[in-house]
Amino acid sequence: MRASFLGVLLRLGIFSCLVAFSSGAPPAKAQDAQSKKLLDDAKQIFKPISVAQPAKDPVAAARVELGRRLFFENRVSMDGNVSCSHCHLPDKQASDGLPKAIGVFGKENPRNAPTIFNALLNVKQHWRGERESLEDQAEKSLLGPASFGNPDFATPMGKLKAVPAYAGAFAKAFPGEKDPINSKNWALAIGAFERTLLTPSKFDAFLAGDAAALSKEQQAGLRTFIDLGCAGCHEGAGVGGDSFQKFGLVVDYWKETGVATPDKGRADVTKSDSDLYIFKVPSLRNVAKTAPYFHDGSIDDLTKAVKIMGKTQLGADISDKDAAEIVAFLGSLTGPVPANYSALEPYPDAPN
Ligand code: HEC
Ligand code: HEC
Repeated sequence: MRASFLGVLLRLGIFSCLVAFSSGAPPAKAQDAQSKKLLDDAKQIFKPISVAQPAKDPVAAARVELGRRLFFENRVSMDGNVSCSHCHLPDKQASDGLPKAIGVFGKENPRNAPTIFNALLNVKQHWRGERESLEDQAEKSLLGPASFGNPDFATPMGKLKAVPAYAGAFAKAFPGEKDPINSKNWALAIGAFERTLLTPSKFDAFLAGDAAALSKEQQAGLRTFIDLGCAGCHEGAGVGGDSFQKFGLVVDYWKETGVATPDKGRADVTKSDSDLYIFKVPSLRNVAKTAPYFHDGSIDDLTKAVKIMGKTQLGADISDKDAAEIVAFLGSLTGPVPANYSALEPYPDAPN
């Protein structure tokens, strides 16, 4: 009697194992436990983000709206054709799809244009971190030889002053100032706009406790992303963006990407050899939509980029299956383009 009861239990056990095996997944209970453990682990490493709330204060709201307008303003560039959005396109998740960005008079930038969504979470701005803040970045890009190409701040500000409607818009955003159309306020307005550009995604729903927000494949990818050590660098609210690390900890990066003339990274900024080949760890939010990859745009395929990261950063040969699952997980980091990331009707030029 006892033996046969055990036998039934065993057979039931084997049967359910077979069922689980044939459907390629562990039994539902074990899966729930796995998902829960994954969620607990993920919560220790990452932080969810949510959509920015519209500013209630009218001055703050006017600043955001002015920043939006300025972001899409071509007239500040030396050739009249380049706005911020020229290289941070709404239909490319605020990147540009090029290996290296092309600016004023067709000049090529030394590096790839990252997305600016969630850039407010970055510890510093640019691949080498030579811009301290969003505002610092916005102001200096006016003078960038391959971005707007201005010789000084007065030139682009003069062009804004020549557009009648800007006087009122700047006055509303910077009330009580005598000469509000200046490069500092340009930067403050654009920074205020950029601070609204958060893109929560399915991953944030997962972090908030909805395990089903990620598919089984995405969950497997997240598990590998954590267990392999990717999350040691790509962590926090941005899934990256909060530290500087050497690209090529285990293998020189150019041996894997095949670039002929390696960029020295932060060493060129700090003039210190200890910063050789150090770059900001990029945020991986929206990464599925921002090819090509790396600071030089040398790799056009995300699976390839993931495998290169395995080799250069962790000394790991990532299998095709693991890479596919990681890429599926990275897809869960794509959020909708914020509704206000689009051009307003440009203010008309002054009548002749
Ligand atoms: C000609 C193309 C071009 C234009 C125009 C341009 N950018 Fe960029 N942007 C880039 C490139 C390239 C980088 C990376 C530069 C680097 O790291 O060396 C970048 C980086 C950034 C970053 C840092 C993102 C990060 O993850 O580090 C921000 C923020 C940004 N741009 C905002 C702006 C704003 C605001 C404007 C307008 C004031 C602007 N960009 C105009 C090409 C451009
Ligand atoms: C030791 C830190 C570190 C680890 C570990 C690490 N990364 Fe990175 N990751 C970086 C740095 C730094 C870059 C920027 C490289 C450059 O200069 O282009 C980067 C870039 C990337 C990019 C390209 C992003 C873009 O916008 O171009 C992807 C994708 C990526 N990592 C995924 C991963 C994955 C997947 C793993 C685990 C297999 C991983 N990383 C492990 C530091 C790290």
